[in-house]
Amino acid sequence: MADKYPPISGKCPHFLHGGDYNPDQWIETPEIWDEDMRLMRLSGCNAMSIGIFSWSNLEPEEGRFEFGWLDTIMDKLAQNGGYTVLATPSGARPAWLSAKYPEVLCVGPNRVRNLHGQRHNHCFTSPVYREKTAAINRRLAERYKDHPALIVWHISNEYGGECHCPLCQEAFREWLKRKYNNDLDKLNHAWWTGFWSHRFTDWPQIESPAPHGESSLHGLNLDWKRFVTYQTIDFYKNEIAPLRELTPGIPVTTNFMGTYTGLDYWKFAEELDVVSWDNYPGWHTDAETTGELASKIAFIHDLNRSLKHGKPFMLMESTPSLVNWQPVNKLKRPGMHMLSSLQAVAHGSDTVQYFQWRKSRGSSEKLHGAVVDHCGHENTRVFRDVTEVGAVLKKLDCVLGTTVKPDIAVIYDWENRWAIDDAQALRRDKKDYQKTCENHYRAFWKSGIPVDIINMDCDFTGYKLLIAPMLYMVRPGVAERIEAFVKRGGVFVTTYFSGYADENDLCFLGGFPGPLRKVTGIWAEEIDSLYDQDSNALVLAPDIRTSLRGEYALHTFCELIHAETAEILAAYKNDFYAGSPALTVNSFGLGKAYYIAARTENRFLEDFYQSLITELSLLRALDCTLPESVTAQLRTDGERKYIFLMNFSEEAKMVDLKSKVFKDIVTGELLQQQITLRPYDVRVLEEP
Ligand code: GLA
Ligand code: ZN
Repeated sequence: MADKYPPISGKCPHFLHGGDYNPDQWIETPEIWDEDMRLMRLSGCNAMSIGIFSWSNLEPEEGRFEFGWLDTIMDKLAQNGGYTVLATPSGARPAWLSAKYPEVLCVGPNRVRNLHGQRHNHCFTSPVYREKTAAINRRLAERYKDHPALIVWHISNEYGGECHCPLCQEAFREWLKRKYNNDLDKLNHAWWTGFWSHRFTDWPQIESPAPHGESSLHGLNLDWKRFVTYQTIDFYKNEIAPLRELTPGIPVTTNFMGTYTGLDYWKFAEELDVVSWDNYPGWHTDAETTGELASKIAFIHDLNRSLKHGKPFMLMESTPSLVNWQPVNKLKRPGMHMLSSLQAVAHGSDTVQYFQWRKSRGSSEKLHGAVVDHCGHENTRVFRDVTEVGAVLKKLDCVLGTTVKPDIAVIYDWENRWAIDDAQALRRDKKDYQKTCENHYRAFWKSGIPVDIINMDCDFTGYKLLIAPMLYMVRPGVAERIEAFVKRGGVFVTTYFSGYADENDLCFLGGFPGPLRKVTGIWAEEIDSLYDQDSNALVLAPDIRTSLRGEYALHTFCELIHAETAEILAAYKNDFYAGSPALTVNSFGLGKAYYIAARTENRFLEDFYQSLITELSLLRALDCTLPESVTAQLRTDGERKYIFLMNFSEEAKMVDLKSKVFKDIVTGELLQQQITLRPYDVRVLEEP
């Protein structure tokens, strides 16, 4: 049975294509608005994000609202077949507001209150700011609730940052009282405050972490981060209350920033109707190959799809050409705009949106890429690139609402990351939790095998393979769910630096990997950090039942483990721990748990996962071997399969489709046997 998600808005059963549009920057020359409409139609754009930074044009004086310009724009959009992703303006506020109510301004960790300026510079607790944002949001909802152009609410912009003002301190203490049932002893235990005499005897003694104050209590640091997520979401809920009341049918989103560390997006995603994110890869860098970068971006796209368990997401921002904030602001090379736009679609985006539609004339983003440049017309390379994407998206209606149900999940967990980053251990600058997860993921990306990126609280049951690199923190119940997963026949893979600490960042007693010891069948006794010039290797046992053979280089971390019930697959080659286990597998119920004790070269991960791919016959987009830097991604409604074949390299690549016949949805061509992908080529194929 065909199984599709409904379109983001029932008003528009097509891909959304468009971006951030700031017509109010051109309020003195409104004739340009008609030109914008002409250019939008011409470029195949149908969705404009409006009002993100418009507060001072919507409420120029306290209580005096001016919606005339926005009425005009919304009407013009509707008349031109377009839609509005309408923003609430809290991302930046008018000067009168900061001047009259200084409490709305953010206070830094150094306890200094910011001056008015910039954006995203506000307190998430301030009752005044909450009142003012809810009030203007109510007006927007009242005015536009029945407007045909309104399709999505874009709440604020890239929520982030933290405020350390007295109001936030008080809210933090109240949050702690709720969390610890008003019991300071519980808090003292969880934060291990016996350390350095840091015991608290009264709630007012507790303050948020500060560079010139407390930073050594890891439990406090963790709870503060959790509070920041809680308080930001609480602020967001206050923003959306009037929208929920007046426009219950309009979906609500806020634009995420990939793996931004300041907020736990798993908590935030629960409160959104649709996930959206802003994607700005530095394509064509000399720091890594295009294929390497593409795989990292794919990881984040997959995360955004997984945040709502497979529901298509929105690519809310991307640049049509270049950004203005990289150390080197490189132009997208010909072909890259189409490829990077369709990469998002390949992983589950139902939109392709940009920052920005028209280049602003002044201020800090005047030289940031835009669909319409300062020259003001359509005869530019970038405009043609965007128009081409618009034309292709129109042919992909069949893909809309489809998703993928991978056999594999990689755990990438925000709280785990916070705790790892905070740990004073290992090699300070080489802990690289995210990079490690990306490296494990890459083996599958290269083979065109879909992957979910989940956190440790997600349901594991639908997967065949669960990978949890550096699962340092193990929250209550997680180990039990991993055990149940393996018992039923699942394969679990974890690595060094796993099972060290509980949800309060208190180390497990009785031997690492703590609650994972039973399922992995090993005891991790010590962990060694290597200098760059140190070398070690993992030597495969000669008689093991995997296709792995020979030696693989190790670097950075080697954990010294004992196989308890596990079988030893490989041992260390050098140093005083030569001959001791470096790779083990434990049979547990119907499944297996692998433990990779050291940081390996990527070639190992590729070979190791290749053997599991074969053994477990994992779902793949295409049944063929893909050349280097080429990937295939799958979207399906359960019946029809859409395959995105993408060449993230500067060379032509040949893919052998064998005797199966595929249809290229964009060109209508029938394809089989060997096809050649041009540099940066992307083909969308339909399986017969
Ligand atoms: C972010 C913001 C946009 C814009 C772009 C520039 O994603 O949300 O307003 O500043 O960056 O790349
Ligand atoms: Zn504050």
